[in-house]
Amino acid sequence: MLGKTIITRDEIERIVSRVAGEINRDLGEEPAVFIGVLKGCIFFFTDLVRQLKPSIEVDFIQVSSYGASTHSSGTVRLVKDITADVRDRHVFLVEDIVDTGTTLKDVANMIRARHPKSVRIVSLLSKPSRRKVEVDIAFLGAEIEDVFVVGYGLDCGEKFRNLDEIHEFLPDPE
Ligand code: PRP
Repeated sequence: MLGKTIITRDEIERIVSRVAGEINRDLGEEPAVFIGVLKGCIFFFTDLVRQLKPSIEVDFIQVSSYGASTHSSGTVRLVKDITADVRDRHVFLVEDIVDTGTTLKDVANMIRARHPKSVRIVSLLSKPSRRKVEVDIAFLGAEIEDVFVVGYGLDCGEKFRNLDEIHEFLPDPE
């Protein structure tokens, strides 16, 4: 069941505006492609890019986790690829949350293999206490404790993504 609100609508708006401001100050004249990592990124991505300089391009990638048994080439499987050619362009990977870091590590490696000029990570949330692999988050919204969160794109079994605020999710008592 839903628990308390972790990040309110007002706080989300302030965070997104602050992160967009930081990115805009950093964006030069060179081409930049913003790649949303589906599905959790959807609302953060659309709110963020609407506050960025109009010269940017947008694209999406979707991966799914291999689970516990890891594949030699990584731990995620490509479900939907980008269509943009990122060679010699600055790439910004946009995520809702970095937890263990495995998803972004693998996605960043997939993108780096296509020879972009740079790859930087933008994440709304980070749970540093859960990290298993190091991920350099260039633009971060907020750090949170190790609680399960839903809403504003984040799900539990595909539900609750459409909530307007970020809530704690509490498992049913046994
Ligand atoms: C979530 C989230 C990140 C990933 C973070 O995606 O959107 O992509 O988990 O976890 P990690 O740092 O431990 O890899 P999920 O696989 O639940 O898919 P979704 O975005 O479609 O909800």
